[in-house]
Amino acid sequence: MKTSKKLLRCTLATIALLTLLSSPFPAGAAEQKGEGKNPVVKENGVEAKNEEWAKYYPREYATWKETSKSDNLVDMLKKKPQLPVLWAGYPFAKDYNAPRGHFYAIQDNVNTLRTGAPVSPITGPLPTACWSCKSPDVPRLTQEIGEKEFFTGKWAKYGSEVVNPIGCGDCHDSKTGELALTRDFLKRGLTASGFDVAKITKNDMRSLVCAQCHSEYYFKKTEETDAQGEKKVTMTVAFPWNNGFKGEDVEAYYDSLNFSDWTHAISKAPMLKAQHPDYELFVGGIHGRRGLACTDCHMPSKKDADGTFTDHRIASPLGNIANTCVTCHDQTEKEFKDYLAIKLQRKDELMDLAMNGLAKAHLEAGKAWEVGATAEEMKDILQDIRHGQWRWDYAIASHGSYFHNPEEVLRLLAQANDKAQQARVKLAEVLAKHGVIGYQVPDFSTKEKSQVLAGINMEKEVAEKQAFKAALLQEWNKEAVAKGRLNMESRKGMSDRTSYAK
Ligand code: HEC
Ligand code: HEC
Ligand code: HEC
Ligand code: HEC
Repeated sequence: MKTSKKLLRCTLATIALLTLLSSPFPAGAAEQKGEGKNPVVKENGVEAKNEEWAKYYPREYATWKETSKSDNLVDMLKKKPQLPVLWAGYPFAKDYNAPRGHFYAIQDNVNTLRTGAPVSPITGPLPTACWSCKSPDVPRLTQEIGEKEFFTGKWAKYGSEVVNPIGCGDCHDSKTGELALTRDFLKRGLTASGFDVAKITKNDMRSLVCAQCHSEYYFKKTEETDAQGEKKVTMTVAFPWNNGFKGEDVEAYYDSLNFSDWTHAISKAPMLKAQHPDYELFVGGIHGRRGLACTDCHMPSKKDADGTFTDHRIASPLGNIANTCVTCHDQTEKEFKDYLAIKLQRKDELMDLAMNGLAKAHLEAGKAWEVGATAEEMKDILQDIRHGQWRWDYAIASHGSYFHNPEEVLRLLAQANDKAQQARVKLAEVLAKHGVIGYQVPDFSTKEKSQVLAGINMEKEVAEKQAFKAALLQEWNKEAVAKGRLNMESRKGMSDRTSYAK
């Protein structure tokens, strides 16, 4: 690549920019009210309503609002019908779409069949922790009521509280305007990984604000009895980073805790679900190792008549190559697109192999139990399935990993394939021992067939969800408006897309 001169220039430009940023925000008139100091959006606590910030920072707000343009909905279960089998017994088997713009975070969380259909504030199925990465109302609440109280109870408890989508108050301090880490669980995770949080630099912050949510996590369960003698369960978001960021490091951490997210409904394997280890995989890739931050590609600088500011339309850089890749590299837009397409295709090829192998292993394990296999015979097999599926999931659950760290993704997928095949060789033996030879697994080539194998009754799930949306959800929104937490205008023009509504 003939990148060196441009890269040097770019590095210098970045350093210059960072120096500028060590004083409060540079840039346009609106940002400079009050003699170079940032305007105070809120004196105490977190301002969760993005429209309130718009009064002081119109350009950042306007570009932030453009995340609403990423509203395409991709039903991943339809695209990859192996998924319901892989996730049988876990809510993801019901409904799972590719990520959309931050503007839709609340709507997608409320709409997904995964969050179920609560009928009151104490009904489940999911814990409050499922709101953690959806809204600046979360840091607002944790400051108001404390983190422990926030993480106690069921998801429906905060239906009328967590109402504004990911925005300013997630990444900025409402009083000083500076970048801020609003989630303490990130600081705890960093500390556990050996990162000295007292030494976080400005450039670190340009990735760490994202790492608050774009990371692998699990729900850490603590049971206790309060002063009134009532039993309480806290489900706190925690990062599994004690051994490091590699797939195997995180796996070893979960194994050491004997942790599993669920027991697989077909194979009975103790499973792990990977979330979205974007940060972990990114820092090990070439751009991460060269000191780039998420912001360099997902929030480039933009110019208007008032000068330069940060483009807050966080989206795929593929739609913005001219202002991202090309500022440091000499290639053309077409070269970059072709280059990324090849990377994606390589990942897809190994990913499909792994998914097919793992889905067959689950179904063959189900058959083995059916014909009388013993727990002793199945033990190693289930461990292979757990580890194989974990490595597949860790590699691909981060949708940008095929670019952020391609070699690592392919390495993990190769491991996932190997584990799946090891399980299947052992399963052929166990099945033969119980009189089954040449077993062919049932067809899982469509979402519908695969969901039947996973034991899901979609009609019931959808009907319950629609009833929830017609009743309790309406009450939540009314209450949020009445209490001044939500401005309905902010949702204007928002389509209500799901992959299940007819
Ligand atoms: C996901 C995190 C994130 C969200 C959400 C976010 N910002 Fe930012 N913002 C950043 C980052 C990162 C920078 C600094 C970029 C840099 O250092 O290169 C920044 C910079 C700024 C600046 C400095 C001036 C500039 O444009 O560079 C202002 C002002 C600002 N943001 C306001 C807002 C407002 C208002 C909102 C809500 C409408 C918002 N931000 C939402 C991450 C965020
Ligand atoms: C408060 C949590 C949170 C923070 C902070 C956050 N994200 Fe996100 N991000 C999400 C969630 C949740 C989604 C999926 C939203 C949906 O699909 O409804 C998402 C979606 C995305 C997408 C997909 C958008 C699209 O158009 O398809 C990108 C890219 C992204 N985030 C990058 C970033 C970057 C870069 C940062 C830091 C500057 C960041 N995010 C900070 C939670 C967060
Ligand atoms: C060198 C540029 C670059 C940097 C730095 C970078 N990304 Fe990306 N990111 C990309 C590209 C390119 C894609 C692939 C986009 C596509 O396939 O549409 C991507 C994809 C993503 C996606 C998936 C978007 C979607 O719609 O599916 C997320 C989320 C994301 N990145 C988050 C991050 C986070 C968080 C960081 C920092 C830890 C980061 N990125 C750093 C270039 C970058
Ligand atoms: C802020 C500067 C910057 C931006 C923006 C940037 N890159 Fe890079 N890129 C680098 C640096 C630095 C390297 C490492 C060069 C080296 O060490 O040889 C690199 C390396 C690469 C490589 C070689 C990777 C390898 O495996 O050896 C590719 C390909 C690449 N970048 C593509 C992209 C694409 C695509 C985008 C836009 C989505 C992008 N870059 C955005 C700075 C940047």
